[in-house]
Amino acid sequence: MGFNAAWAHNASVLVVGIAETSSVEGDLRPYAEYDLGQAIAHLSVQAQAEGLATHQMAGVEWDRVVAAFDLADNLKPLTITAVGTVDEAGKLPGALAERETAPRTRLPLDELVLLRS
Ligand SMILES: Cc1cc2nc3c(=O)[nH]c(=O)nc-3n(C[C@H](O)[C@H](O)[C@H](O)COP(=O)(O)O)c2cc1C
Repeated sequence: MGFNAAWAHNASVLVVGIAETSSVEGDLRPYAEYDLGQAIAHLSVQAQAEGLATHQMAGVEWDRVVAAFDLADNLKPLTITAVGTVDEAGKLPGALAERETAPRTRLPLDELVLLRS
């Protein structure tokens, strides 16, 4: 899992988020990715409510995931979400520890929303 390999294996659970992009009969499911995003968002909120942390990842070798789970063509893995308790940032390798303890910033609303009057 690239740079995620330094820490992700310590998580209690790694949840593979898979979008079912079509039915077995071949009918497309155009909202599959949207649905998966919502499912993972709600998983994250519920985990937080139960005192757990989540960390979503897309930096994953997907061909290995597809092979490990023998996924059919209509099952598209998009994210892996680590779920567990937060450990000390100091246990992470240098750059990752810095990122973990850096002040969190958010993009201003006008960079996220298209406003038209
Ligand atoms: C789709 C997606 C993929 C991501 N991929 C990775 C990843 O591969 N590795 C990683 O450390 N963070 C990744 N992130 C970022 C983290 O999940 C998280 O959003 C970020 O560390 C900010 O955390 P915060 O919201 O607690 O500040 C990804 C986020 C999203 C939404």
